[in-house]
Amino acid sequence: MQEKKSIHGAWASRWIFILAATGSAVGLGNIWKFPYITGENGGGAFVLVYLFCILLVGVPIMMAEVLIGRRGRQSPINAMKDVARESGHSGKWSFVGWMGVLAGFMIFSFYSVVAGWVLYYIAGMGVGDFIAIGSEDAGNVFNGLLADTQTLLIWHSIFVVMVMLVIVGGVKKGLENAVKFLMPALFVLLLVMLGYSMQTEGFAKGWSFLFHFDVSKLKWDSVLEALGHAFFTLSLGMGAIMAYGSYMPKKTSIGGSVIWIAIMDTLVALIAGLVIFPIVFTNGMDPGAGPGLMFVTLPVAFGQMPGGQIFGFVFFLLVGIAAWTSAISLMEPAAAWLVEKFGWHRIPACTVLGVIVWALGVAALGSFNFMSDVTIAGFNVFDFLDFMTANVMLPLGGLFIAIFAGWFMKRKMAENELAMSSPLLFNAWYIALRFIAPVAVATIFVINLVEKLK
Ligand code: PHE
Repeated sequence: MQEKKSIHGAWASRWIFILAATGSAVGLGNIWKFPYITGENGGGAFVLVYLFCILLVGVPIMMAEVLIGRRGRQSPINAMKDVARESGHSGKWSFVGWMGVLAGFMIFSFYSVVAGWVLYYIAGMGVGDFIAIGSEDAGNVFNGLLADTQTLLIWHSIFVVMVMLVIVGGVKKGLENAVKFLMPALFVLLLVMLGYSMQTEGFAKGWSFLFHFDVSKLKWDSVLEALGHAFFTLSLGMGAIMAYGSYMPKKTSIGGSVIWIAIMDTLVALIAGLVIFPIVFTNGMDPGAGPGLMFVTLPVAFGQMPGGQIFGFVFFLLVGIAAWTSAISLMEPAAAWLVEKFGWHRIPACTVLGVIVWALGVAALGSFNFMSDVTIAGFNVFDFLDFMTANVMLPLGGLFIAIFAGWFMKRKMAENELAMSSPLLFNAWYIALRFIAPVAVATIFVINLVEKLK
């Protein structure tokens, strides 16, 4: 068969693919969400379950996404359709791509709000607003920001524009150029921060909070949270990684690349924990503070410490970069599809997408002020979007991808794309994909549902 090419272009090398996918994976999930949900779920035991989910569910499904993308060489909607047909099945499998596009919009809308907070804090740290701030004042700054619709709107809009400006450039000029500079910068900033936190008194305490595994503390909803977070942090189940896979060079090893991405993503989350918790403990604060952990606790801590303003600025800059390279991948599948379907240039495609996600983001942002009494199933809009995507749609999308690649796609196709040297490794992947991942996701879903109904 003649080798298909993507009309959108291709990454220059294996490393660019790894950087881009790592850029997608490493985001607010790692630095904002992972530490605070770890704090809320009691620390070590949660981390252990999360690591199992990454290894046994995340890695096999990520390989499946990349391989479907590279085989189909199109946006997830069209790649799913073509690969399904090529395997003699219905093109309706494209629904997995559609669900992913929807999840992408939903994630983007709350993601952009949090990224907006981050931009506000970069600016605030930069001009020294948080010098020697007390915890009450820091809480007031954050709550004041949440109540200030206009300021939130400004930063949310800026973030939407930043993301769209990269996607407009396309795969090579936009995405590739962005990740080539931003990702190395992110790694350097993170190591600077780690060096800083290692000097604090609370380092040992932060370490044991993360790595002291006390499984007796674990509840079923923490297990669902860990599973959902594994999908969220690896950008799985919605097509982002599939789209990036469709731009991957042919000869590159999929398994080898995916391992790198998973390792880097996990390391960044753990290091973020090792940056945040020691600072929290050094200042005698509460690790279970929830979504405000990064925005209230940390500025206070930075405000008290020598050099804290500079490090605070560096820290939020780092988070902003991470959020930026992830948000790009949330919209790339939809942008690619618009280009394929209507033959549009990326400018109109990004304008349309930008307007849609901007408007959705306004609804998410309103949950903190003008829409605070609107609830869906007991959640405010912001929490609903977060819960529905991370804990329901992404695992469900991943489940369908595993079932498709494990049971419907021709095995020969997987063998060819993965081109693994060892049959043993291939079989391990295949078993994980066909049995372990679907059973794990389905079981955790069902148990949670039963627990909720009890
Ligand atoms: N992985 C990103 C993070 O951890 C979020 C994301 C999810 C990005 C799904 C793309 C797709 O912040």
